[in-house]
Amino acid sequence: MEMKDIKEKFLEILEKAKNIVFLTGAGISAESGIKTFRGEDGYYKNVSVMKLASVEGFLENPKLVWQWYNERQENILKAKPNPAHKAIAKFEKMMEKEGKKVYVITQNVDDLHERAGSNNLLKLHGDIFTVKCISCDYKENRNEVIKERNCPKCGQLIRPDVVWFGEALPVGIYEKAYQLAAESDIFFVVGTSAVVYPAAYLPVLASSSGATIFEVNINETPISSNAIFLKGKAGEILPEILNIKVN
Ligand code: OAD
Ligand code: ZN
Repeated sequence: MEMKDIKEKFLEILEKAKNIVFLTGAGISAESGIKTFRGEDGYYKNVSVMKLASVEGFLENPKLVWQWYNERQENILKAKPNPAHKAIAKFEKMMEKEGKKVYVITQNVDDLHERAGSNNLLKLHGDIFTVKCISCDYKENRNEVIKERNCPKCGQLIRPDVVWFGEALPVGIYEKAYQLAAESDIFFVVGTSAVVYPAAYLPVLASSSGATIFEVNINETPISSNAIFLKGKAGEILPEILNIKVN
């Protein structure tokens, strides 16, 4: 399908739609200068994911993991929302006036959706600027590079409050995402390799609940065959399909 035809189809479905959901992944922040995980220049190219993003990896080498998180925190602080984040945030406000709801479910731990102005935001994998104790209930959120240190309450190690492999999603978050996917009429999948579960299950669920799936990615993924696939960069494709001008 050509862009012109896809836009037409989108508008046609949008007219009757009540709930529009965007599932986003690292690819949406790529044009803001934040590296993705998989693929040629991804973080997991040189160091295995289990060393960087699992409890076992962290306990084995907390320094290495903290170094990685500090580097990422630093990059995110310097980064700015790109036209893809901005288009979604603007689209949410526009749709609100028409009585439609727009939600963003993101796997990203950066804060670019927030800074772009998205209000209905669900963070599946946590937040890179929140840290917590591995042992007690100590938690803190600071918008800066947070160095490796010990818990002021119990002296144990502090870790980033993000979801690692083998860990469950934050309580209630997956249930909410599941409900949003099931109730969506239009479901966008943007910049995710769609290989990490349970997030990757959400488009499948949305599709089987009757939603139309649009996918924006520079490469095809396992869900592309079930979606209307828009090949290209999120920062270029999203403003176009949503018909939003961003600066
Ligand atoms: P990945 O690195 O697995 O995938 C990034 C996707 O973005 C790929 O499919 C790329 O083709 C695509 N992409 C890259 N640049 C793009 C651009 N400019 N526009 C559109 N698409 C682009 O990242 P995620 O799918 O987000 O989890 O990874 C999922 C989870 O794995 C992450 O949340 C993280 C990681 O381990 C945790 O940390 C728990
Ligand atoms: Zn503690």
